[in-house]
Amino acid sequence: MQTAETKADIRAAVAEYRRAGESVALVPTMGYLHEGHLSLVRAARAANDRTVVSIFVNPTQFGPREDLATYPRDIERDLDLLRREGVDAVFLPSVDEMYHPDRQTIVETTRLSRVLMGRLRPGHYRGVATVVTKLFNIVQPDAAYFGEKDYQQLCVIRAMVRDLDSPVAVHGVPTVREADGLAMSSRNVRLSAEDRAAAPVLNASLDAAERIAATGARVSDIKAAVRGEIDSAPRAGLQSVDIRDAQTLAPVQGVPSGPLVVLLAARFGDVLLIDQRVVTPK
Ligand code: PAJ
Repeated sequence: MQTAETKADIRAAVAEYRRAGESVALVPTMGYLHEGHLSLVRAARAANDRTVVSIFVNPTQFGPREDLATYPRDIERDLDLLRREGVDAVFLPSVDEMYHPDRQTIVETTRLSRVLMGRLRPGHYRGVATVVTKLFNIVQPDAAYFGEKDYQQLCVIRAMVRDLDSPVAVHGVPTVREADGLAMSSRNVRLSAEDRAAAPVLNASLDAAERIAATGARVSDIKAAVRGEIDSAPRAGLQSVDIRDAQTLAPVQGVPSGPLVVLLAARFGDVLLIDQRVVTPK
């Protein structure tokens, strides 16, 4: 497995693959890898000749009061995991390597970046869209893999690729969960023991949403069921429950017809967790 800390080095590695006529997949990450990330790697490897993983804790997607400084990191462990998965190359740039001191260009999905998690985290999706554009330009992959866990992020990237005509096929991969249903996240290690024990309530509330949606319930009833379930777990500080069109993230009302996505954000102590489920109404 090759590791590259500079754009020039990762470009040279990819150029070799291209010369051999091989297809190239990219899996962008911020490291501290878990089974969720590895499922993206496996999906990428299954469908492409070469798989490149990037590890970059992107400062521009963190707000001033967010957890950039405490974001968990363990590069050696990450590299071991990726080596075992058969990854071909890892791109681990420094912040200075990625961002020019006079940088002034941004990429933003103007509507999607302002709604839902984008309202809770101003500037976040602009940071994501900008860094993913840069990674696409640096690596120039045929395909890129993202988790459905970060559902709005996946929608942002699909919209960006569509609007900018990026020649990258974007693939979404289902959420990988712990045995008790908690969606895997690099942030889970920062939960206290009590909060860790309480956090599976998010998945349980999504189960409730799925059950109720299958009865032909109204959107407001689905939302009430989710809130009821989460409010039964006193440690969860519910930030938002949103039920949207699964494709466009447009608001939905009444008795829904097409697939919906239920999007949750909740604080456990100072850790913000998100979860999501696509449900198909009756
Ligand atoms: P990060 O949080 O490290 O996640 C990297 C990728 O792993 C994302 O596509 C995310 O959706 C996916 N992922 C995380 N947890 C998952 C789980 N439990 N199951 C399946 N997939 C999961 O998301 C980012 O980094 C950054 O915003 C990035 C796209 C790298 C841009 O900086």
